[in-house]
Amino acid sequence: MNDSLCKTEKLCKSFGSTKALSDVDVTIRKGEIHGLVGENGSGKSTLSSIFAGIQKADSGTMTLCGEPYRPASTLGAMDSGVSMVVQEQGTISGITVAANIFFGKESQFVKNGVLNVKKLEREAQKTLESIGVTHIRPDILIDKLSF
Ligand SMILES: Nc1ncnc2c1ncn2[C@@H]1O[C@H](COP(=O)(O)OP(=O)(O)OP(=O)(O)O)[C@@H](O)[C@H]1O
Ligand SMILES: [Mg+2]
Repeated sequence: MNDSLCKTEKLCKSFGSTKALSDVDVTIRKGEIHGLVGENGSGKSTLSSIFAGIQKADSGTMTLCGEPYRPASTLGAMDSGVSMVVQEQGTISGITVAANIFFGKESQFVKNGVLNVKKLEREAQKTLESIGVTHIRPDILIDKLSF
């Protein structure tokens, strides 16, 4: 039975003369939780970011649920249900909290070519409330918030 969720085969990535990944084969099955452990510079972030579409491998292949998986970008990966939660600040400055929450998904709030900002903010409010956040207004600029 092929129950692999995420799989990489012979993934390679170099930065100049630095070989960050060398023929990396990883299989993660449905329901599993893995810790990727290694010394600084061993390639953990490089591997994760390639799977999340942030950067591209030089060679090798990936599959998601048994299907070929080649994310063109972070948004492409998100469309496939893959995203990376980073320890660094992952927000986009200059736009609102609501716009950050639905970044790349705005089309669901567009009608006749016009973005329904109120609806976007209402949905963002619901999303925030669903995780118990009631003290952050969705319509404020993200830059007004502390880290
Ligand atoms: N954008 C980049 N440009 C040049 N070299 C890079 C780049 N990203 C990573 N590297 C190099 O690739 C190797 C793997 O780095 P990576 O960040 O994936 O390691 P890591 O396991 O996540 O390390 P850490 O534990 O410090 O987070 C390192 O030698 C690093 O210096
Ligand atoms: Mg890292």
